[in-house]
Amino acid sequence: MNPNTELGPALQTLIRRAEQALDARLPDAGQPPVELHRAMRYAVLGGGKRLRPLLVYAAAHALGRDDAALDASACAVELIHAYSLVHDDLPAMDDDDLRRGRPTCHIVFGEAMAILAGDALQALAFELLTVPDAAPDPAAGMRMLHALGRACGAEGMAGGQALDLAAVGRRLTLAELEHMHACKTGALIQASVQLGALAAGADHATLAALDRYASAVGLAFQVRDDILDVEGDSAVIGKTAGKDAAADKPTFPSIIGLDASRARLAELTATALDAIAPLGPRGGLLAELAHYAAQRHR
Ligand code: IPE
Ligand code: IPE
Ligand code: MG
Ligand code: MG
Ligand code: MG
Repeated sequence: MNPNTELGPALQTLIRRAEQALDARLPDAGQPPVELHRAMRYAVLGGGKRLRPLLVYAAAHALGRDDAALDASACAVELIHAYSLVHDDLPAMDDDDLRRGRPTCHIVFGEAMAILAGDALQALAFELLTVPDAAPDPAAGMRMLHALGRACGAEGMAGGQALDLAAVGRRLTLAELEHMHACKTGALIQASVQLGALAAGADHATLAALDRYASAVGLAFQVRDDILDVEGDSAVIGKTAGKDAAADKPTFPSIIGLDASRARLAELTATALDAIAPLGPRGGLLAELAHYAAQRHR
């Protein structure tokens, strides 16, 4: 159970749904290789806001698709996310020892097992998308695999993480910073919305509108993350506050200041809401998530 009081009851129900689906799809901790299975389960279960699975369900809701068809996609994006956090926290990257209010995966299981757990979570994510019923038809299934692959790779999350490492100690322009954020965080958030929409059989125009929504929400989410690193309390955010400044990372607050960062958040929220306006009330969960991404406190 993972109550998130910043979200309404429909989204809380979907968090529980995603967590049950993840639990059922992760390998059994009693089966060998036990340490690897335990590390995978530790990295995924017990905490986390589950924003990416929520976006999968919310996008498909807007198009009238029922939840059961979405579980594989919802799990796939959360597994990729969990893997990215395990690797992000490694000593070679951000060297963090606190995640979701607990010691990071490599602190508990060692670096080698944390690397392998990340690898195995990534592979499992793609495997899940190939199960029967993950997609409405084989062509949509191929598009979903393509979308997730691009979001994880050199043009997406891994590329963004490489830009992040290369940026340490440098002064990026705002455009460079937005590009880095769009890759390292935005790409997977965009893929989450795409997977939900493709699983629901969205047409081209709807996919384009949802993509505009998702790129604004994805950027807003990382801007808020940067602000929380400055203003947040480690006990609430569940990770070490002040880490970005200590590591000399370029962030929204460090480049444009806190007030302008908040103004950018308001602009991005307006862009996201404008993009989904044609969906009307069916886009209600997506609208709630757009506000949440920009205003959350953890
Ligand atoms: C943290 O993501 C890393 C970023 C991309 C900012 P989340 O803030 O979604 O992490 P959890 O899943 O809630 O722990
Ligand atoms: C993480 O960005 C992005 C990915 C894991 C891909 P951060 O390094 O800012 O995330 P936190 O603050 O450690 O959660
Ligand atoms: Mg990082
Ligand atoms: Mg980090
Ligand atoms: Mg951060």
